[in-house]
Amino acid sequence: MDAELLRQYLEFYQDLGIKTLYRQPAGLAGESACPTSAPIPMELPPLAPTNDTLLKIIEDMGDCRRCRLSEARNKIVFGDGNPQSPLVFVGEGPGADEDAQGIPFVGRAGQLLTQMIENTAKKEGIELLRKDIYICNVVKCRPPENRNPEPDEMEICGQFLHRQLSTIRPKVICALGGVAARALTGHKEGVTKMRGKWFTWQDIPVMVTYHPSYLLRQYNQEAKREAWEDLKRVLHSVYD
Ligand code: URA
Repeated sequence: MDAELLRQYLEFYQDLGIKTLYRQPAGLAGESACPTSAPIPMELPPLAPTNDTLLKIIEDMGDCRRCRLSEARNKIVFGDGNPQSPLVFVGEGPGADEDAQGIPFVGRAGQLLTQMIENTAKKEGIELLRKDIYICNVVKCRPPENRNPEPDEMEICGQFLHRQLSTIRPKVICALGGVAARALTGHKEGVTKMRGKWFTWQDIPVMVTYHPSYLLRQYNQEAKREAWEDLKRVLHSVYD
């Protein structure tokens, strides 16, 4: 593999948040052992094709069985909304309702998110409905019992999120909750430390805010108020 291609792969993996790569043992796949001690990937999924499209990504995912999340899922939940949207919301992973319908954020948390987007936009004088923006998740299959996705599941599914965001290339991304925030920014802090701040993903500004399920669970009016403030800033940064 030439050095430039290797550099591109390493950069791509770094963007996915993958920190550890393993050296290919001598003789595997008929290649000679790497002469350096630098870690080299064993198996490389393809880099995002040029002229990538959401349809192509869905086709490449197929009936995905790349990780254990596929075992109990009903539907792959790829994304929903306007693929030309300048604003993309990224959640954590589908819940039971999303798994049943194949659409992200349609359960209680989703209804709250939809309300928050539409009501805040209206109050701020911005004409915007949920269908105008794009919503997806870090992992596309439901984690059992709604547990957090494991690092390897996020790494495997990360290639699709990376291609999805690279294809849409929105003006702004809003990360919903700590899992999405950490996956997109590479920062390790909890959501309370990160919320209300701007980070970047591939030079695209990323605002971190609370996950709507946290707002549903919390009797904490302060968190809700903060999430509304974050959303206002996001909407004005995109639509002013
Ligand atoms: N929570 C998420 O993170 N994503 C969904 O699609 C639904 C609930």
